[in-house]
Amino acid sequence: MQSITTRTGLHLPKLGLGTWRMLGEDCTRTLEQALDLGYRHLDTATAYDNEAAVGKALAQTSIPREQIHVTTKVWWDKLEPQAMRQSLDASRKALGDDCLDLFLIHWPGNESAGWSLERSIDTLVALREEGKARQIGVANFNVAQLTRAVVELGAPLSVVQVEYHVLLNQQPVLDFARQHGLALTAYTPLARGQGADTETVQRIAEKHGVLPSQVALAWVLEQEGVAAIPKSNSAVNQQANLDALKLKLDDEDRRAIAALPKDVRIVNPNFAPKWD
Ligand SMILES: NC(=O)c1ccc[n+]([C@@H]2O[C@H](COP(=O)([O-])OP(=O)(O)OC[C@H]3O[C@@H](n4cnc5c(N)ncnc54)[C@H](OP(=O)(O)O)[C@@H]3O)[C@@H](O)[C@H]2O)c1
Repeated sequence: MQSITTRTGLHLPKLGLGTWRMLGEDCTRTLEQALDLGYRHLDTATAYDNEAAVGKALAQTSIPREQIHVTTKVWWDKLEPQAMRQSLDASRKALGDDCLDLFLIHWPGNESAGWSLERSIDTLVALREEGKARQIGVANFNVAQLTRAVVELGAPLSVVQVEYHVLLNQQPVLDFARQHGLALTAYTPLARGQGADTETVQRIAEKHGVLPSQVALAWVLEQEGVAAIPKSNSAVNQQANLDALKLKLDDEDRRAIAALPKDVRIVNPNFAPKWD
């Protein structure tokens, strides 16, 4: 599997498996199936309530643990130093890891309600220095927040995880990530099917003799420095998503996809930051 190497030395497999809404035994079985197919990057979070199920799959697979990249995240109501430490300890226990591969702040807090970005980032950095997480990063930070963390505080962040797909422009975050040597992990990379539903993507798929979902995913995967974590329970879709790594789009395809609307934001809770 191709991977992205960040300035901090993280090798992040280009394609991972999202696990939101996978629970319990079904989640464990689905991950074992994905690992058998060739996935080596799993994305979980405390908020998904499935870290123990992910841990079970990691314990049961014959694939050596060091060949599998695991990301987890701390929820935004646990960003005070003590709460963040407890959350990380609980994640490590559930995942059965000595050390997590990548620990992310899932969403920034609310500064007008007293959240301190500096305090949370300092804690994140300390956890890395203590060896509790191999690598650290953030999700859903805007460029101003990334600038404070990476440029002003000098935090060695490896990854910024944001929504990114054929229907959403993320150029400002992408530019920041490339400039500072972070990988951008695209979540909701299939726009939950909305990318594949467009006539443009369907036409390109027909031209190449592939599925529309593969075109939508291949476009994300071909962006430099970008990894993607589509969620799928089905072996057929998991395999189709792996095969999208091999699909080569041409300039005509890229021009057509560039002309699609780029303002479809699917994940936008009321605690989201001001987007770029
Ligand atoms: N950091 C954050 O705040 C954040 C927010 C949202 C999501 N995420 C992460 O990103 C992951 C993915 O995002 P998502 O679940 O929102 O959306 P997504 O990956 O864009 O779409 C998932 C949907 O697409 C279907 N699908 C997958 N592969 C397909 C294929 N080849 N052909 C047709 N349909 C296909 C899945 O159904 P089947 O299961 O039936 O295949 C599922 O219904 C999450 O699981 C989570 O790990 C992170």
